Amino acid sequence: MNIHINEQNLLNELQTLATFTNVEPAENGTAVTRIVFSPDDLRARAWLKDLATAEGFTIREDAVGNTFIRWPGTDPTLPAVATGSHTDAIPHAGMYDGTVGVLGGLEAIRALKRSGLTPRRSIELVMFTSEEPTRFGIGCLGSRLLSGTLDPERAETLTDIDESTLAQVRTAAGFTGPLASVRLPENHYHAWLELHIEQGPLLEREGIPIGIVTNIAAPASYRFTITGLGGHAGALLMPDRRDALCAAAETILSIERHALATNAIDTVATVGTCDVHPGAVNSVPSRVTLQLDIRDTDPTRRESVMRAVRRDIEDLQSRRKVTITEQLINADIPAQSSPHIVDTLEKICAAESIPYKKMVSRAYHDSLFMARIAPIAMIFIPCRNGVSHRPDEYASPANIVRGTYLLSLALAKLAAE
Ligand code: GLV
Ligand code: MN
Ligand code: MN
Repeated sequence: MNIHINEQNLLNELQTLATFTNVEPAENGTAVTRIVFSPDDLRARAWLKDLATAEGFTIREDAVGNTFIRWPGTDPTLPAVATGSHTDAIPHAGMYDGTVGVLGGLEAIRALKRSGLTPRRSIELVMFTSEEPTRFGIGCLGSRLLSGTLDPERAETLTDIDESTLAQVRTAAGFTGPLASVRLPENHYHAWLELHIEQGPLLEREGIPIGIVTNIAAPASYRFTITGLGGHAGALLMPDRRDALCAAAETILSIERHALATNAIDTVATVGTCDVHPGAVNSVPSRVTLQLDIRDTDPTRRESVMRAVRRDIEDLQSRRKVTITEQLINADIPAQSSPHIVDTLEKICAAESIPYKKMVSRAYHDSLFMARIAPIAMIFIPCRNGVSHRPDEYASPANIVRGTYLLSLALAKLAAE
């Protein structure tokens, strides 16, 4: 089998996809913002479907907009082998997160087709809806629904910043039908493989071009609403204050302290948003909403951090005379890669003399949820300085091509089983 990855075409496609964005190019890279079901997301979807149609692949879209691009095998009744990722991007992101897995996946399949292979199992490319939590507050919307991890009725009522529900937004985007129909049965796929930039520094630091992911850390997210007392910034006397933002600051520092105290490199906690009401310089904050993202490879340790934070919150509620409520958005379990797919990747790397290391994914991916219905693994490629979720995110052409090449060989092997 002579596999040739068309580097120039793949890079051009990554560049084109990066133009579907509503932010101007940044000075330090290509800033991409592509929020699910925004006009840019819809344009990107249409463009991707055109690429697939041009290759003669079949396309299916489900009720939440997950898109399935299929190259039929000689036995289409067998569970398919699938690959893919996401094309949505958080505000002011880079151009490689998710997109390398979608366009690299497409190129991997095209390269197999060009090589003259006729796969036994169908090979499918999946583009998931809303891997990023930006619009509806919860990540991996499409793969959660697909794997039966998120209740479809709850999903319909998720709202965006304008209080529009998912039901309204997806319908306006042209995705109708019951969300329950998105779920796929457990034996639907024979294997799932996602190509992604590492989003961390280890591969680059160690000079290793490929990471084979053995497990994915478990994310959880919470919303804290802190209610105090507002008032005039000049006239409300300091001893009388119940400043919600000061209480929020203590909450954030408590989270940081307890996450550090586990002394485990795999415990990470981030408060990434802080909405201050009424948000005026001369007004004492009366209400603050914080969103916490906390992850660990060990969910028990993650929960112990949360218990310690809650004890601090009890104390600071009485000390600062504020009310703090906690809302759970999601608390997921970690995923393990399939030993068989990891072994398949290791053997291909050995045969092709590609250095690799086995590693943990600390970022979450749609693979976290695919693991609930299929044997999974992931291929990581290095990204410059480990940077991601920033405009200066960068993966080199050589690494993108190597990852895509490895993906194509693994898809061929798995599709022949
Ligand atoms: C995915 O984007 C993540 O936040 O891990
Ligand atoms: Mn991301
Ligand atoms: Mn991603």
